[in-house]
Amino acid sequence: MAGYAAGLWQQRLENPGADLISMLAHSRVNGEAMTFPTYIGTFILLVVGGNETTRNSISGGLLALSENPEERRKLLDDPSLIPSAVQEIVRWVSPVLHMRRTATEDTEIRVQKIRKGDKVVMWYASGNRDEDKWDDPFRFDVTRYAKPNVATQLGFGAGQHSCLGSRLAELQLKVLFEELLRRFPDIHVSGPVRRMRSNFIYGLKEMPVAYTPEG
Ligand code: HEM
Repeated sequence: MAGYAAGLWQQRLENPGADLISMLAHSRVNGEAMTFPTYIGTFILLVVGGNETTRNSISGGLLALSENPEERRKLLDDPSLIPSAVQEIVRWVSPVLHMRRTATEDTEIRVQKIRKGDKVVMWYASGNRDEDKWDDPFRFDVTRYAKPNVATQLGFGAGQHSCLGSRLAELQLKVLFEELLRRFPDIHVSGPVRRMRSNFIYGLKEMPVAYTPEG
């Protein structure tokens, strides 16, 4: 992938088009021309950020729907609930488990004192189960986000670095589940699931499914 990205960089530096790589290659960062290492870093961020996350929320969402057939029934009966289900899937799965920040000033969160310079790990998977924010947070509920005044899920992070691709991700998940449930309404997990060993990405390595093909 790095070789492919490097080739694109050279190509688009010489012959820019209206694409994202041309934009990156010709962009300026704090007044300076984009450097190759920064470009490669950004390329990797986009490829990993836009791949592991949507892939695992789609498979994790299908697993949640298989484990909660009554929730799946609600989506089959009323597909207008899918946008709400998408938020719930990202909350439930939390495909990115954590990010880390460095505190810029002393502060306190509940009883935990944090000093300037401390490294703080933000567990989205935990924040997304906060009993003070959601009723019954350990329940997978596809109608949760169709109700008023529900706390925003934290799967896309929060603040300055919150996910750049969240709107694209929401659209991908919405279209995927609309089409999948319309075409294969009985699709379900049909065997043991193998998870990825990672404390950063909630991932599924293997998840067999069964469905009736379109007639
Ligand atoms: C369900 C899918 C996705 C989830 C759960 C997700 C989650 C996240 C999280 C937790 C962060 C870090 C936020 C922070 O540090 O505060 C992030 C950042 C980012 N995401 Fe996503 N993401 C998803 C899809 C995507 C897609 C589709 C793209 C691009 C095609 C993308 C591109 C990025 C980029 C570029 C950043 C870095 C933003 C920054 O540091 O300013 N993500 N994402």
